[in-house]
Amino acid sequence: MIRIDVLTLFGEMFDSPLNFSIIKRGRQSGLIDIVLSNIRDFAKDSYKKVDDKPYGGGAGMVLMCQPVLDCLEHVQKQDARPGRVILLTPQGKKFDQPTAKELAAQQRIILIAGHYEGFDERIRIAAGAEEISIGDYVLSGGELPAMVIIDAIVRLLPGALGDEDSAANDSFSDGLLEYPQYTRPEEFKGLKVPDVLLSGNHKEIEKWRKRQAIEKTNENRPDLLHKYKKQSRDSNGAVKKIQ
Ligand SMILES: C[S@@+](CC[C@H](N)C(=O)[O-])C[C@H]1O[C@@H](n2cnc3c(N)ncnc32)[C@H](O)[C@@H]1O
Repeated sequence: MIRIDVLTLFGEMFDSPLNFSIIKRGRQSGLIDIVLSNIRDFAKDSYKKVDDKPYGGGAGMVLMCQPVLDCLEHVQKQDARPGRVILLTPQGKKFDQPTAKELAAQQRIILIAGHYEGFDERIRIAAGAEEISIGDYVLSGGELPAMVIIDAIVRLLPGALGDEDSAANDSFSDGLLEYPQYTRPEEFKGLKVPDVLLSGNHKEIEKWRKRQAIEKTNENRPDLLHKYKKQSRDSNGAVKKIQ
């Protein structure tokens, strides 16, 4: 079972996301254990202060080393597995599907959610933490990023999804965006399901889906298609035939 610890100031924000759908099932079936710890419980003064003004001036408040690192030490002692320590920050490496796969193969992960202006830099250094961002935008806290990462990991745990194929065919799993999907009825307000999907010819359906995935990727994420084509070169450097 993978254990994910989240160090946060706002644990209540996780109440709903952890108790629905795939994450709920994953927890109930023992695939994943998610443990929330409140950084504020480790504050030393009577005001439960966890932040202070930045040295050098500037707006906002910065999370102090002591409460965060004491909280981390406390949770690390709860389990023999040391765990990968991850600071959630817009300054981190961008989270993507390969990172989700890599994290899903770990035994234990410790996510630290920041707030205010972020962390005292010495937290990263003392914790030996890596930094992950969920995208090039700034949110108010690391709680939503933690939920995003947990959700992406849980989907990849063997047995978490009813149909194993649904993760294998998801966007990004082979470097492309997913092909368009259709369900009943065959026609809706004049819009028809492509004939090939009704043909029963699995080879043709496969080919159509691959072409559509490439088209969609080219349209919305040409950067991904470029990477995909580079990876698809054979040993002579020629582009492998894309069906
Ligand atoms: C308002 S942000 C701090 C932003 C920081 N001053 C900066 O400019 O990089 C507060 C906290 O939200 C979280 N956060 C915000 N945006 C994020 C993102 N894109 N990815 C991961 N965490 C993020 C981090 O934990 C961060 O410490």
